[in-house]
Amino acid sequence: MRAGALALAGVCGLGGSAFADTIKVGIIGPFSGPFALQGKNFQAGAEAWLAQNGKTVAGHDIELVYRDLPTANPQQARALAQELIVRDKVQYLGGVYFTPDAMAITPLLKQGNVPLVIFNAATSAIMTSSPLAVRTSFTLSQTTTPLGKAAVERGVKKFVSVVTDYGPGVDAEAAFKKAITAAGGEVVESIRMPLNTTEFSPIMQRVRDAGAEGVFAFLPSGPPTLGFVKAFSDTGLKKAGVKLFAPGDLTQESDLPALGEAADGLITSFHYAVSHDSEINKRFVAAADKAIGAPDLLSFPAVGAYDGMFVIAKMIAATGGKQDAEKAVEAVKGLAWESPRGPVKIDPETRHITQTIYLREVAKDAQGRWINKEIASVPDQKDSGLTK
Ligand code: PHB
Repeated sequence: MRAGALALAGVCGLGGSAFADTIKVGIIGPFSGPFALQGKNFQAGAEAWLAQNGKTVAGHDIELVYRDLPTANPQQARALAQELIVRDKVQYLGGVYFTPDAMAITPLLKQGNVPLVIFNAATSAIMTSSPLAVRTSFTLSQTTTPLGKAAVERGVKKFVSVVTDYGPGVDAEAAFKKAITAAGGEVVESIRMPLNTTEFSPIMQRVRDAGAEGVFAFLPSGPPTLGFVKAFSDTGLKKAGVKLFAPGDLTQESDLPALGEAADGLITSFHYAVSHDSEINKRFVAAADKAIGAPDLLSFPAVGAYDGMFVIAKMIAATGGKQDAEKAVEAVKGLAWESPRGPVKIDPETRHITQTIYLREVAKDAQGRWINKEIASVPDQKDSGLTK
């Protein structure tokens, strides 16, 4: 008995605890309802990382605990986070698709001694709401800024801006106005729509009435973006030669088969394309496709989750598995690595990810599949969204 115990201690290494603790990571996302595919992408990205790197970090097993938050609902977000912290005793929180949900969770982090690694929610100001938040997605300021120059270079100067009326939409509207004005163009009308808007033809009519050459648009990826891009085509604006410029939320790859010709030629800018040409991305896509269980469902939330798991693993290693949120966050400030999207770094000042933003065009690849074809890149983009 004694010899057995000693042998076990030997196997586990000197000074370590004889039995590895399980470290729980709570992941909040839309796993049901209209945005379920976005949540499935969180899950696919997180599980792809575990499949490639193993479930054990620094001798500790990682257990993912998923909680379903179908749409933006700050009250429910807060309740779920509270329950994960208090009852499930998670040491880390990850995920969060919508900005209002992230804003509802960040006030709980300090008292809970839990870092939050945001896989999606993209409003710049979220990062100022807690020093324990780290973000591996993007901001609308980051992704939108290159569109101003891209539009003017293509001879499109007179714009109507159309955004969903909440954090990321307001950020996108401001970033585009600044970028297009700096490039020598103008926004002649700014339209904000409620988050639950599903009927877009009146908006397309306003664009037509304004006599705009271009439309800038942001909506949260999922049914709203699919509906908007379809309406842009169905109402004849696309055929009439009006050009749509948007951050890549509007042309996520999982929507492209359904959009088909309606999205053909759209110019977007974003941090990640599933077709990004690198070895590490090919391996990521293979693992994430396997995790999601069917082809053509992958989209950008998967890469936010995959890189988010990398960050959480670094935090676990740096704290030796002990619950110390401040030390965990401190350890990843300045962390740089090669992501499936390209080179990235956690900006030590904002805790938001610095990355390349790519200009892309919806086109068919050699196999006839619709992709976001990368046509230009702007490296090392920090979040510029807080310095308006
Ligand atoms: C957000 O709520 O922050 C959000 C959601 C979906 C997006 C982008 C931003 O595509």
